[in-house]
Amino acid sequence: MHARWRRLSTLQPVRESAVEIEDLNVVRGGNSVIPSLSLRVRSGSVTGLLGPSGCGKTTLMRSVVGAQIVTGGKISVLGNPAGSAGLRSRVGYVTQAPSVYGDLTVAENLSYFAKVVGVEQGRITETLQTVGLEDYLERIVSSLSGGERARVSLASALLNRPPLLVLDEPTVGLDPLLRQGLWRDFHRLARGGTTLLISSHVMDEAAECDDLLLMREGRLLRNCTPNELRGETGEEDLGKAFLRVIEMASGT
Ligand SMILES: Nc1ncnc2c1ncn2[C@@H]1O[C@H](COP(=O)(O)OP(=O)(O)O)[C@@H](O)[C@H]1O
Ligand SMILES: [Mg+2]
Repeated sequence: MHARWRRLSTLQPVRESAVEIEDLNVVRGGNSVIPSLSLRVRSGSVTGLLGPSGCGKTTLMRSVVGAQIVTGGKISVLGNPAGSAGLRSRVGYVTQAPSVYGDLTVAENLSYFAKVVGVEQGRITETLQTVGLEDYLERIVSSLSGGERARVSLASALLNRPPLLVLDEPTVGLDPLLRQGLWRDFHRLARGGTTLLISSHVMDEAAECDDLLLMREGRLLRNCTPNELRGETGEEDLGKAFLRVIEMASGT
């Protein structure tokens, strides 16, 4: 190793985790939905939480944002226990169904959310630029396409610049072009220091992520990078690689 490189590498900051989960256990409706799950989400990463419908993605995200009663385990979010009052303004959560008011304009929606989180109205235009909706201020939300509505919902979570964004299937049902645009937005936010935890049941999206959390039936099968997954399975295609990991887990 070159001396110069060694010197540089010792100067690399240690990237701490934005989220750390140890032995999480969640029971819903009498069923053990997540029996025991541990993971880390690197600060400043775009981390994809991937797995088929019903595997527990939403349950896990709800646990991270403190909206889920958990049976056991430890969840640390930005150095605090999940759900602490101090995290309220530091964690942005966008649920699977866009949570915006259809009968209000984009401007009215964001103005309302800006008041709720206590940021000045000037942030609205800036936030809409981030999601490419700056020309939509006066549009009634119910007249927007699904993708545009999802972007308004995302914008509402960005208003107060939370250092952690938890986005539940933000790209589902969007056309490929819009999806690509959103992934660009996510990476731009990550470059600015935001950590993004993003769920999807579409394996194609894995290639867009820095880190992957592969889930199945309430269990975490892998916490790795896309290239590590390719290397381990010998599959270039991440969808096939995921199937390979499932086969390995079931011993076939
Ligand atoms: N309110 C609930 N009561 C009982 N079981 C639930 C409830 N919500 C979700 N589940 C179950 O928990 C599991 C995980 O669901 P969920 O976290 O929504 O998965 P995903 O987001 O990956 O589709 C599923 O088997 C689902 O049926
Ligand atoms: Mg879900």
